[in-house]
Amino acid sequence: PIMKTLDGRAEMELSLAERLGIARVVVVSGDSEQSEDVTRDVGQAAAHVLRTFLHPPCTVAVTGGSSLAMLAELMPQATTPQDVEVVPARGGLGERHELLANTIASQLAARLSGRYRMFHVPESLSRATAERLAQEPTIAEMIDRIRSANLVVHGIGDALTMATRRGLDEETVAHLALRGAVAEAFGYFFDAEGHIVHMMNTVGLKLEDLSGDKMVIGVAGGRAKGPAIEAVAHAYRMDALVTDEGAARAILKKG
Ligand code: BG6
Repeated sequence: PIMKTLDGRAEMELSLAERLGIARVVVVSGDSEQSEDVTRDVGQAAAHVLRTFLHPPCTVAVTGGSSLAMLAELMPQATTPQDVEVVPARGGLGERHELLANTIASQLAARLSGRYRMFHVPESLSRATAERLAQEPTIAEMIDRIRSANLVVHGIGDALTMATRRGLDEETVAHLALRGAVAEAFGYFFDAEGHIVHMMNTVGLKLEDLSGDKMVIGVAGGRAKGPAIEAVAHAYRMDALVTDEGAARAILKKG
């Protein structure tokens, strides 16, 4: 009998799934670093994966970033209202307006014909102030909604790239380098083994919320993000990862 051999990408998806311990891995062809088209393909594939995970009524928590912005933009328009609420995963994280989680939550909700909730919390609070704020009843209620979301969809960034994009001070950047930070996701910075080395002072989703029955989807492409994706996969369980060949090869090449 003629055995059907897997094509290169399908094989990569299987190898990555096994290596990273993620049940569903989608690898689109090309490298986001080389072409905008690939960034779009990652966003489109991520929108598709999100739809397959979406079972209304449900709450979806999203991060900001360009990968999630693309997902929201390319989500097909739902024609009938859906009982879906989209919320930002955490308060402000120092991004441009179009990349803010609040912005993406509202856009995604519009595509899904669902509802959204905004969450406005200043991003440069002291830890003590952030904790006090979290006790305000309206904020506490919003934090509860976020933390009990059924689905979390998030971007994954290279640690130092994200530190610069968020304007972290020199001292913090030096601390990140010293502790070997390679990845960033929703305001947490991780080393290659997935240990937390730093976190932004904001409120909302916590790392421990990612366990249990939440579905977690990571979206990140581009060769330079390979190490970050791998680090994050050590830090917590993801149910699905949508990436590209550039990142996939970078991870698998490491042996
Ligand atoms: C941020 C998310 O907004 O975007 C992070 O909070 C993520 O989880 C980052 O690391 C990635 O951004 P981009 O633009 O590379 O998709």
